[in-house]
Amino acid sequence: MGTTRHHDATTFVLFGGTGDLAMRKLLPALYDADAHDRLPPALRILIVARKFDTRAELDTWLEHDVHTHIASGRIDPNAWQRFVARIEYVRLDFSRPEDFPILQSALGPQPGQLIFYLATGPALFVPICRSLTALGLNATARIVLEKPLGYDQRSSRQINDEVGTLFTETQIYRIDHYLGKESVQNLLALRFGNVLFEPLWRREWIDNVQITIAEELGIEGRGEFYDGTGALRDMVQNHLLQLLAIIAMEPPHSMDADTIRNEKLRVLRALKPVPLDDIDSIAVRGQYDAGVVRGATVPSYLGEAGIAAASATETFVALKVEIENWRWAGVPFFLRTGKRLADRAAEIVVTFRSAPHAVRGIDPARPGANRLVIRLQPDEEIRLHCLAKRPGEGMTLQPVHLNIDFNRFFAAERMDAYQRLLIDVIHGRLALFVRRDEQDAAWQWVEPILDAWTKRTSPPRRYPAGSWGPAASSAMLARAGTCWFEEESS
Ligand code: BG6
Repeated sequence: MGTTRHHDATTFVLFGGTGDLAMRKLLPALYDADAHDRLPPALRILIVARKFDTRAELDTWLEHDVHTHIASGRIDPNAWQRFVARIEYVRLDFSRPEDFPILQSALGPQPGQLIFYLATGPALFVPICRSLTALGLNATARIVLEKPLGYDQRSSRQINDEVGTLFTETQIYRIDHYLGKESVQNLLALRFGNVLFEPLWRREWIDNVQITIAEELGIEGRGEFYDGTGALRDMVQNHLLQLLAIIAMEPPHSMDADTIRNEKLRVLRALKPVPLDDIDSIAVRGQYDAGVVRGATVPSYLGEAGIAAASATETFVALKVEIENWRWAGVPFFLRTGKRLADRAAEIVVTFRSAPHAVRGIDPARPGANRLVIRLQPDEEIRLHCLAKRPGEGMTLQPVHLNIDFNRFFAAERMDAYQRLLIDVIHGRLALFVRRDEQDAAWQWVEPILDAWTKRTSPPRRYPAGSWGPAASSAMLARAGTCWFEEESS
């Protein structure tokens, strides 16, 4: 609903407020926002959970578990005390509608703008929304839904349909934390703030685009969740397809929420349908074996706690995606993500076409040139790889690069993705949240791959932890006459 002014009364209700996400991300982000005076002064935070019997137990948890997830050096004891004083504990079982009057009385007669953040499993989204509605708490509230929103297109539609009868679309904030990353925002600035790239940003000049989100981490104690999810649902349906949409979208006429989301939607709807009889030609799934990551020996996926024996869940996905419109027809977009890979890096590599004609006397085709490399994390930088003449006699070319290192340009510290998104919810700004139709289009595209992998009896391809995934991923690019960026630069 409408925007919130800084001094308006606001109550932020965190369902699942003692869970893993709250502990690692949400409460540290809220603390940091508070410490930097970015929260409305009158904001109240209600942690709704069942885990602790008393407020004193909650305080111990805040002091130990939440505290350790705030980067050292960022804790200011006074700011921390002020933050803890904003927090109220509401103990209830949110699967029981009869418990909700406890929440209503905790809210008091004038809670101001209500925000309900559902950091719970998707199975609880609808029951919680119903219980809130039964008490009339839905009318002007904002509701924040964490991923995963459903398990497939059908279940996500079901949730969206039901939540949509209780809250209007402009009250619903679907989180994809990648959209809150400074570096992802910077993609928009790069594309639409500079005139240099736009004329080249099309099939005539671009040979292929690679988008990689590689993780060194494994499943970090989330075995049960992850085994029922897999990389396609966990990373591709949301984060990777959102990055693709931002890279490929048409210039919007404004930064208004729906204008941006309309343009992203057009890309998602233009994705070339998966070839049902030949999914292997565009999709590779893998699962890690034991191996060595940064010098440490790590177990195989099947050896992790909470994983079913002989599980076929994928921890790696590589895809070849095409966009069926005039700008992009025929340009492959290669997407890749995986756990326990060789490096932690999120990177977009735009490879331009080779020079149309080799000028006699210049030795042209050099690997590594004609690339724009946009590194999203861990360091944020943009490198334009070009060719330059090597000093000395003759005309020998050598790759060099122009480099923008954002840490050097902007000394000010960066704001974490969750913090930005939480502040946006508090102020009623929807641009960085996923609209229902975008989410549905993304499910629509991944669904045939999910189906094929569920039905198939052959297991995912193995890859050693600490590598770049199964060989079939490189083979898919070789068939398209190219290779992954790290293969050519190594
Ligand atoms: C989450 C996934 O959405 O994103 C995790 O559920 C993954 O499995 C995480 O580790 C990666 O996010 P980031 O910000 O660390 O790249």
